[in-house]
Amino acid sequence: MILVLVSYLFIGKNNNEELIINKKYSNKNIEINYPYFNNKIIDDYIDNYLNNKINSFNYYDYHYFFLDYDYYLGKNNINLTFYEMKNKDNMQDFNTKTLTINVKEKVIEESLSKKNKDENSYVKEKDNYDKIIAFTFDDGPNYNTNKLLDVLHKYKVTATFFVLGSKIKSNEDIIRKMDSYNMEIGNHTYSHKLLTKMNGEEIKNEIEKTNQLLFNILGYYPKITRPSYGSVNKKVKSNIDTPIVIWNVDTLDWKYHNSNRIVNNILKNIKDGDIILMHDIYSATVNAVDKVIPKLQEKGYRIVSVSELFKNKGKKMEKNRVYGSA
Ligand code: NI
Repeated sequence: MILVLVSYLFIGKNNNEELIINKKYSNKNIEINYPYFNNKIIDDYIDNYLNNKINSFNYYDYHYFFLDYDYYLGKNNINLTFYEMKNKDNMQDFNTKTLTINVKEKVIEESLSKKNKDENSYVKEKDNYDKIIAFTFDDGPNYNTNKLLDVLHKYKVTATFFVLGSKIKSNEDIIRKMDSYNMEIGNHTYSHKLLTKMNGEEIKNEIEKTNQLLFNILGYYPKITRPSYGSVNKKVKSNIDTPIVIWNVDTLDWKYHNSNRIVNNILKNIKDGDIILMHDIYSATVNAVDKVIPKLQEKGYRIVSVSELFKNKGKKMEKNRVYGSA
């Protein structure tokens, strides 16, 4: 068995959902997010599928391989989609593998679909919105960020990306793409550690390193900061030289990897002035954003970046202060 469990999250029973365990395998060149369903047939199948994948993978041909998933549970079946991405000479190639698992019949059907290169159909823009909210995406950039940027661009929506300094290297083009799509780029520390456990100098260093990396690419410094885990105390506040932005709607996308669930979570909890927390590094989040934007626009919500949200509300953001909504 090649798969080594680096970490897993144990997700309890919720509504009609089965027990899902999200697992993650990663090393320098490869990152795999995958689920277990506590069902021997399905889990053996997934094990087998992933092991074949890893064994057949040629590390010399590609710089990076990334596998992520989205799923939904039907009455008698599980629809699981794996998203596979490879990076070769800065060119990205991605495939979509759909597995429909019929639990009752214990049948697994597979289909492979090459991702459509251009699905940018014209999206009708509403001209009068009566509510405004901000989308924020943390912990990138990675491969998925690219897909997400295309989705946001398709709907003419802007958002804020709180990026990690440690993820910037070899993803500089994605940062440039964010900028060219008018996204706001915020600082999410360098290494995603708990700043509340650090001293002043260490906190400053976590922020400064990322600021400098972003400046080198963009020619300007980020204007807002979101500490890792949204964790703030007096010391953290006094050592961050920009307004500090947290959130008031948490989609729990990292926990469920289930796009329908993320969509419902947003639609159920949203109100004018809210700041929504998501992560651009998951396929389920990209799918959820594609589904939820038209629904929110239909309800009269305009979706913007954090700074635009505050500007629109006529509220000034001040440094060393913490904001969870407008
Ligand atoms: Ni984070």
